[in-house]
Amino acid sequence: MNSPGSRRIVLGVTGGIAAYKAAELTRLLVKDGAEVHVVLTESGARFVGAVTYQALSGNRVWTDLWDPSIANNMAHIDLTRGAQAIVIAPASADFLAKLANGLADDLLTTLCLARPRAGIDGAQADCPLLVAPAMNRQMWESPATQRNIARLIEDGVFLLGPAAGDQACGEVGYGRMLESDELFGDVISHFQPKVLAGRRVLLTAGPTFEPIDPVRGITNSSSGKMGFALARAAHEAGALVTLVSGPVSLATPRGVARVDVQSARDMREAVMSRAQGSDVFIAVAAVADYRPAEMSQQKIKRSRELRTLNLEPNPDILAEVGALPSPPYCVGFAAESEKLEDHASAKRIAKNIPLIVGNLVQDGLGADDNRVVLFDDNGSTPLAPAPKLDLARQIVAHVARRIHPHR
Ligand code: C5P
Repeated sequence: MNSPGSRRIVLGVTGGIAAYKAAELTRLLVKDGAEVHVVLTESGARFVGAVTYQALSGNRVWTDLWDPSIANNMAHIDLTRGAQAIVIAPASADFLAKLANGLADDLLTTLCLARPRAGIDGAQADCPLLVAPAMNRQMWESPATQRNIARLIEDGVFLLGPAAGDQACGEVGYGRMLESDELFGDVISHFQPKVLAGRRVLLTAGPTFEPIDPVRGITNSSSGKMGFALARAAHEAGALVTLVSGPVSLATPRGVARVDVQSARDMREAVMSRAQGSDVFIAVAAVADYRPAEMSQQKIKRSRELRTLNLEPNPDILAEVGALPSPPYCVGFAAESEKLEDHASAKRIAKNIPLIVGNLVQDGLGADDNRVVLFDDNGSTPLAPAPKLDLARQIVAHVARRIHPHR
């Protein structure tokens, strides 16, 4: 449902070393079910050739505005009819300058200028233009390029990157094209409905770690994958997202502000200082219920004697946020090993929150897929087993419907 499915994407490739990433981007889009039509500029064809894109996309590659084999010579119009987006990756400084000024002297610039816009000449939908700049940092920072970029943004063109880093020329700075997986993620994000536009979403994810001594501690099993997927889905839906994460080894979703914490008390502090200004709070973290009453400053030496660890309870972060005078819309998670409905519903009532997402630990712990059921005042909504990102998008859509019931 959320993948491009039968989406048609026109991928324009202009001249730049980063063209090798466009080949990989083609592969990723096709693997995800998109129909990709590659258009090369003359200089784009000098880096990675048409044969590569043809093999990866399974479609003929277009280069020439004057190609006599094009049936009605209308490739500049036909290719974008029914396309959901034109993605230009890499977009050279020269190409961006042409776009900003409405030049149309080859097939790709002509396609961009002639792309459908909703309401104009009977077009049903916009064909958005997404550009991924790729150039040397001085070219990127030049006043001319910055002027062109500002004008393109004003014209409604979407910018993907650029990133900062090592450049092919040996310099370091802004202008480097995003990696193919980042571009792929951004293109997919672009298509997600912006149901949480402008909303502030705060999340917790991962386990907490409660130290016993400098090297030992108590923790829970939690990969953080579901919380990170939700942070990504909320960002894709247009929200301003802050993710408070316990110790996990996952990359921060693009566009998400991350706060790293260790213990439940650190997590509580990070959450409580931000909760009041949030519209939605999603507590996915597997917070340790107890912590050692004291932490030894030195490593405890091994001995054969029996030792007792004194524990004290940790704060219930979700319950505390739910009890604020005007709390954000709170979503809890209940990972149960049995009687899912009974336990999840009891937790929802005990914590006084509007929505709880229940799952059985045997269905999803640490895995990429899960099976969840949503419990709220309207009853239970089981979601079909799916990858965590798909589930996260469905949970975000459910939350959006609850916080704006009239949309
Ligand atoms: O651990 P429990 O099953 O009560 O967790 C239910 C929900 O409460 C989860 O969303 C979890 O993130 C949250 N929680 C919390 N602080 C705790 C314990 C749980 O925020 N100390």
